[in-house]
Amino acid sequence: MTEFIEVAELVDIPPGERKRIEVNGKQITLFNLEGEFFAIYDRCPHKRTAPLLRGMLDGQGVKCPNHGYRFDFKTGQCDRGSEWDTKVYQVKVENGKIFIGPERNKD
Ligand code: FES
Repeated sequence: MTEFIEVAELVDIPPGERKRIEVNGKQITLFNLEGEFFAIYDRCPHKRTAPLLRGMLDGQGVKCPNHGYRFDFKTGQCDRGSEWDTKVYQVKVENGKIFIGPERNKD
């Protein structure tokens, strides 16, 4: 995606919450970390079945619920090696609405 797309209302995802959305056929999970939003491709690249929606937060990243691989929200990097890196997306909030934009690691 090359442009920002409106995906949710700010009130839909309060601090500490998360929500899976679909953008252009891709499942993406939005995380609200105390008011800062992050968007990450929802399917873990390790087995492609585990939803990161159900992962455990770890700083500014999430650990897969299956085997615990950690993915950084800002870079998409995996702590088990670059072959497992994933996609993360830019997020902006305007007028009470949340928008997802291009991949962060493609800046
Ligand atoms: S399926 Fe996610 S770490 Fe294995």
